[in-house]
Amino acid sequence: MRNLTKFRSTLIKKFKKRNISFSTSFLLNRSQFIYNFCYSSSSSTYYDLTHLQTFDIIPKFSLSDFILLPNHFTLQEQTFLSTHSLKKLKRIFGKDTIYQPSHFDHIIHNYRECQVTSWTSGDNEIEREINNLLIQKVYNLFPKEINWLPIHILELAESIGGIKSHVDNVEYSGNIVAGICLISPTVMILRHVNNPECRFSVLLEPGSLYIQRDTIRYNFTHEIPIDPEQHKFKNNLIPKGQRISLMFRNVK
Ligand code: OGA
Ligand code: MN
Repeated sequence: MRNLTKFRSTLIKKFKKRNISFSTSFLLNRSQFIYNFCYSSSSSTYYDLTHLQTFDIIPKFSLSDFILLPNHFTLQEQTFLSTHSLKKLKRIFGKDTIYQPSHFDHIIHNYRECQVTSWTSGDNEIEREINNLLIQKVYNLFPKEINWLPIHILELAESIGGIKSHVDNVEYSGNIVAGICLISPTVMILRHVNNPECRFSVLLEPGSLYIQRDTIRYNFTHEIPIDPEQHKFKNNLIPKGQRISLMFRNVK
């Protein structure tokens, strides 16, 4: 117990030093992963749990395996990241924005996607600035031992872009899937793999970082409605604008 208290206070100091605000009572540590469970402070604004059943559902899950950090990136940081993401997509796909109608496995619709090994074509200063920002605001939230796959940039087209329900390929990556949300708000619906009616929705605003891990990453599918009429949060239609996400996955 004492050790745990000591452990917590070390972590709190660490988080404070990094200027991350959180409620200490929700600081959890499980399977070598330390995180800030923000559900309590942002529940009604960002989560719709109306259809979430917790009893008799197998495999079991913990909602604390979905972590949302709203307003994690300042407006300036968001603009910086979206500008360089769009530049990167332009270098790869050309100056005309042509969205791919559907993913090879028909999961993602009307999108552009690329993997990032470098952000620029040789601008070291920008490269450094982006990497420092991502280290500070993403990688430093996790233990150092975690190895990360290259980032994916995913752009969804205004109105018609979307993602059908899926679990990220378990062969490709490990227990953590994190996303930075940019440009437009989006609604993500997560459904239990054995009972799609057991579901919850999350409003992902630009500037937020979300993390799915363990029981949510493996036991829930996630989707972004393709039909703009279905893009609703608590019965309010959320207009579907162009949206970019930066996706982080750990090595299995
Ligand atoms: C994916 C995915 C979600 C997002 O690329 O597999 O589910 O926030 N992306 O873009
Ligand atoms: Mn996915």
